[in-house]
Amino acid sequence: MRRHMASYRIAPSILSADFARLGDEVRAVVDAGADWIHFDVMDNHYVPNLTFGPMVCQALRKHTSAPIDVHLMVQPVDALAQAFCRAGADMVSFHPDASAHVDRTLQVIRAEGRQAGLAFNPATPLDVLEWVIDKVDLVLIMSVNPGFGGQSFIDSALRKIERARGLIDASGRDIRLEVDGGIKVDNIRRVADAGADTFVAGSAIFGQADYAAVVTAMRAELAR
Ligand code: DX5
Ligand code: ZN
Repeated sequence: MRRHMASYRIAPSILSADFARLGDEVRAVVDAGADWIHFDVMDNHYVPNLTFGPMVCQALRKHTSAPIDVHLMVQPVDALAQAFCRAGADMVSFHPDASAHVDRTLQVIRAEGRQAGLAFNPATPLDVLEWVIDKVDLVLIMSVNPGFGGQSFIDSALRKIERARGLIDASGRDIRLEVDGGIKVDNIRRVADAGADTFVAGSAIFGQADYAAVVTAMRAELAR
């Protein structure tokens, strides 16, 4: 389904930014036309990599008014989810298989006045959504296995995006459908056609010198 252009969001993942200059990188990518800042939190337990915590989120909060979209790849979830809410995150997503009590974790985030998201790995079914969709503000479909930037898009994600779009539309709720992993200028249109409205891109944007050129090219694809 073709959505209205205004409803699309591009969320660069700072996982692929220069960590020594994160504040500058966030400002640069927002100036380049990004809508959200995607903030990948890895714990070397749920995923085999380690990134940054709530203190870095709090530090970046001062550098931008763009929404900070925290993607937790951590286990356990609840304490860090709450810490990120208090560190200025606008939305906090977690993997349901990493939480012992998914409904409770969603409530922890919403009680802080933040938007709550559920993230689904390539082999994880959407089943839990049926039971908690009334507490979900964002569904994040992983199109790579979490842990690293720069991986190739896994095509079965397209069918899962279609499935998630159906569930979201049936719920009647205003829920964002975000896709994360391997998104480039040359596949963003297919991902949108499957039903996504929010696009994470790490290496595609930060891997190029001219961030604005990439964001503009992505928007042109979405407008076709
Ligand atoms: C992977 C992260 C992604 C990643 C995307 O675990 O969740 O957000 O940074 O990077 P690219 O766009 O390079 O696949
Ligand atoms: Zn992510």
